[in-house]
Amino acid sequence: MSWQDRILQPDTAVEQMKQKAALRALETIESGMKLGLGTGSTARYFVDGLGAKLTDGLSGIVCVPTSEATREQAENLNIKLAPLDELQRLDITVDGADELDDALRLIKGGGGALLREKIVAAASDKMIVIADDTKKVAVLGAFDLPVEVNMFAHGATARAIAGALKATGHSGAVKLRGGDTPFITDGGHYIYDCALKAINDPEALAQALLSVPGVVEHGLFLGYATAAILAGTDGLEEVGNL
Ligand code: 5RP
Repeated sequence: MSWQDRILQPDTAVEQMKQKAALRALETIESGMKLGLGTGSTARYFVDGLGAKLTDGLSGIVCVPTSEATREQAENLNIKLAPLDELQRLDITVDGADELDDALRLIKGGGGALLREKIVAAASDKMIVIADDTKKVAVLGAFDLPVEVNMFAHGATARAIAGALKATGHSGAVKLRGGDTPFITDGGHYIYDCALKAINDPEALAQALLSVPGVVEHGLFLGYATAAILAGTDGLEEVGNL
């Protein structure tokens, strides 16, 4: 039985699409590569597939997980892991996204792993985004933009974030993820989700957010993704160079 036959097929059409995108990304993986493993339901299919492919001839793969959830999944599949500090550079990171536009600019962080995801993507020669095609948008921002902040005086940071949004021509609620029981990231921070509806100048917004003391990272990934595999009902669309 081949490794593909050992992978379980998901029940719903959308989950099957996510898996198809993940399996296409797996075709680009060669023995000896150093990989970044993304976080989320789509990245999960990639990690499952990698585990299966490793039992079928693929060898010498070392990976850096972008979250504790992905670390646990990879460890259960006996995928070899190493700290990014040890590997220094990675060949490819494969990760999902909450939104992407034509220029391969992304919103990420719906799963709360944006900080590690960005650090790992920045250390990778290539970043392949895998997603179902509903994630593709003309203008970023319908998905609330996650902003990771230090816990110290986070209310003051949130007010400063609202100021930065206003200064760059945006409006919309800035809400602490989890409300009364705030979500805590793997790095021990909070996340504020910004309901912007549309981001017309992502680069300017990214700069403004990073200038706010207390902001650890934001979910705009600009200039990281080198390719995307989008799965739809009509098949796969590939953008950029795989
Ligand atoms: C986690 C992320 C995920 O990649 C993003 O939320 C997409 O997840 P999914 O594949 O479950 O839709 O950025 O921080």
